[in-house]
Amino acid sequence: MKKIVIAVDGYSSTGKSTLAKALAKKMNYIFVDSGAMYRAITLYFLRERIDWENTAAVNNALKNISLDFEYNAEKGKSDMLLNDENVEAEIREMLVSEKVSEVAAVKEVRAFAVAQQQKMGVKKGIVMDGRDIGTTVFPNAELKIFVTADPAERVKRRFKELYEKNHNITIEDVQKNLEMRDYIDSHREVSPLRQADDAIVLDNSDLTKEEQLEKALKLVKERIN
Ligand code: DC
Repeated sequence: MKKIVIAVDGYSSTGKSTLAKALAKKMNYIFVDSGAMYRAITLYFLRERIDWENTAAVNNALKNISLDFEYNAEKGKSDMLLNDENVEAEIREMLVSEKVSEVAAVKEVRAFAVAQQQKMGVKKGIVMDGRDIGTTVFPNAELKIFVTADPAERVKRRFKELYEKNHNITIEDVQKNLEMRDYIDSHREVSPLRQADDAIVLDNSDLTKEEQLEKALKLVKERIN
């Protein structure tokens, strides 16, 4: 069967990763969470106290970063490795979420991540989720899905996810973080988050995960045939 590239973009906590992961599983495709790469770079910068406004410091630091994905059979998805260390849990913490949009806006950081993402797609058979996948990483993707959801619903979903790990988190913290990231992600100079002209919008505010997947699978089948 013909293999295609599927780009899934959208704002934070719209359920992009859930959809992309489920699509990849159904299609037996590789799933790549591109946000995890920006999160791992952010974690490195925070740990090593790299000033990301200093281009020379960023370029030097990037030389010491290697990013890999390692399949975790229990979760049915890949964990993020930063220089061979599994950082999957740490990159989801608020400390990283608070800074990742700033780091992801740095031109050199984007060039570094995008080059690796493009390599992963050479053989097709891939579902990648992010902010610029349909516009910059894979502008020729056979299918581009732009996921949206009601802002209040997104806050609720994200809060539930984070509260399970940290009971000190408040709804207000989550809302502020999502609003800030939405703003920075869509206003940065390099590859801002925007819907590709040929993307199909999938609003999942009132859809179950299964309904969302069904709609997306229909689109995949149309593209493959
Ligand atoms: O998908 P996520 O929330 O884990 O992404 C974390 C941040 O990384 C997000 O706020 C913006 C950035 N990002 C990006 O700029 N481009 C991508 N392709 C993926 C994520």
